[in-house]
Amino acid sequence: MTTADDVDRIQQPLDMDGLSRILFGHAAFQYLNAACELGLPDLLAERDGLTKPEIRGELGLAERACDILLLGCTSLGLLCKSGERYHLAQVIRDLTADGDWERFKDTVAFEQYIVYEGQADFTESLRQNRNVGLRRVRGSGRDLYHRLSENPHMEQVFYRYMRSWSELANRHLVEQLDLTGAKRLLDCGGGDAVNAIALAQANPGLDVTVFEIPASRTLAEKKIAEAGVGDQVSVITGDMFSDPLPTDCDVVMYAHQLVIWTPEQNTALMRRAYEALPEGGRLVIFNSMSNDEGDGPVVAALDSVYFASLPAEGGMIYPWSVHEECLREAGFRSAERIPFPGWTPHGLIVATK
Ligand SMILES: C[S@@+](CC[C@H](N)C(=O)[O-])C[C@H]1O[C@@H](n2cnc3c(N)ncnc32)[C@H](O)[C@@H]1O
Repeated sequence: MTTADDVDRIQQPLDMDGLSRILFGHAAFQYLNAACELGLPDLLAERDGLTKPEIRGELGLAERACDILLLGCTSLGLLCKSGERYHLAQVIRDLTADGDWERFKDTVAFEQYIVYEGQADFTESLRQNRNVGLRRVRGSGRDLYHRLSENPHMEQVFYRYMRSWSELANRHLVEQLDLTGAKRLLDCGGGDAVNAIALAQANPGLDVTVFEIPASRTLAEKKIAEAGVGDQVSVITGDMFSDPLPTDCDVVMYAHQLVIWTPEQNTALMRRAYEALPEGGRLVIFNSMSNDEGDGPVVAALDSVYFASLPAEGGMIYPWSVHEECLREAGFRSAERIPFPGWTPHGLIVATK
């Protein structure tokens, strides 16, 4: 039985400060976005300890504007102040040192230019149990992905983010996914081939086929050529829900894919993979997961607002157990869970036919 003590241990009780941060969460994000767009963290990463007049001069801001920006960034903890000098938060310094700060900034831009407007329809999306926010994205495509080519700036922001979001976690994918003996991997909905390229580079004997919608072909082929893996990675186009999947693959991967669709659609996708795979073939699910208790992690919950409101009719950061249930329905007999470390709630499920 769960006691009140257990609840306190798992979740800190919300106080008025926490509640205010939720109330003004959108404003907190705008400080983060403005700081990134104006180059404030990059400036302080390069020149630690600048004063307010120096920062104002470097950013080219009016006095009041700089006062607002520094008030917000300091009170939120993005910066800290000693005397008259400003320093970058340690967590941002760490991201910079790890090479992940640019990836983090790509995620900020995604939240600003793709997620922000559409998630104003979150309540209505919950009421109607569908992605009402898509109405705010220009175009006639049936989902966000089929509208990106009609919105070039969004398309650029989306794929830059998708690459970075994948790269934040695919080092663990490369480490944890044992592809010894695998000959061909199908990366279904593989985007700009970011994960296909990483797996090919780590497994020289492996061929990878990226399956994408026609609009994404040019971008994927460009990235494959830039990475110099054209002899290992190729692209085919079609609709993964209805067009035949290649049958010469011993591994099928859905990366950041099964967070977009309903469990019924996910089961259908898994069943299609099952039918395309040989006996002993594997299905790999690589994306964020929420916990089976339904109370976190918080990044999984916050990211689910986007999946509820925008890209396609149904989706969320599902619990591990929902994916496992879909796998069973699709016919897979065993599945292994591999949670990843890090601040994103990524993990891997490897199921065997
Ligand atoms: C969230 S992105 C993930 C991209 C990539 N797997 C990654 O992890 O970086 C989803 C991708 O699925 C593709 N996609 C969406 N619907 C598809 C369909 N019906 N058939 C094939 N690909 C599709 C989109 O074009 C998009 O690139």
